[in-house]
Amino acid sequence: MNTLHHWHIHADPDAVAQAAANFLAERIWAVLDDLDDCHIALPGGTTPAACLRRLAAMALPWGRIHWYLGDERCLPSGDPERNDSLIQDCLWGPAAIPADNCHPIRAEAGALAAAADYSELLALAGHLDIVLLGMGEDGHTASLFPDNPALALTDAAVPVFNAPKPPPERVSLSVPTLQAAGLRIALITGAGKAQAVRQLKAGAALPINQVGELEIFADRAAAG
Ligand code: 6PG
Repeated sequence: MNTLHHWHIHADPDAVAQAAANFLAERIWAVLDDLDDCHIALPGGTTPAACLRRLAAMALPWGRIHWYLGDERCLPSGDPERNDSLIQDCLWGPAAIPADNCHPIRAEAGALAAAADYSELLALAGHLDIVLLGMGEDGHTASLFPDNPALALTDAAVPVFNAPKPPPERVSLSVPTLQAAGLRIALITGAGKAQAVRQLKAGAALPINQVGELEIFADRAAAG
């Protein structure tokens, strides 16, 4: 068992979503006890939806929280397959979060330009206090895929090409950026993730095992 991570195992995806939303809200308040603002990066994929919807229903100081993307797919702005489309539907819209607090990645500009642009934005934001992550069945996280050259890049945000999960062109926070975050929370549910979880626990050099200590919220189907 990889002792680096902290596991929070729950019966099913809904229980994971609720527990993770509660934990995230607690950590946001803790950050805001010390700092004026809290800077949080959100994941793509489908797993986070239920957690984000629950978070949107909570009484949080939305004006003091800035939201970033852990990664974005290089698709036209507004494309329903973009990661920010799901985040808009589940959190930014329902919680009526001020547009100035939402920082999407301009992935429609292409990976190289968007990564450079986002690296500048992240430099202005400074430290990411919290990063919420997903994990793919191959152990990828954000848009950092196994054996992809992006894993070795060290700018704050990096271009990704030839991603095995469509679309092939993406932008991702880099390994150093994820490692430097104050807290990393991973949401992992479903039997399809079970093999990657076993490898994760065994310490395999999966991308999700390279980004630092994780608070992992998982259901029994994924984590046994
Ligand atoms: C994406 C994300 C990716 C996602 C995982 C898990 O663009 O899809 O960057 O890292 O978080 O693939 O996806 P699911 O939550 O849909 O299983």
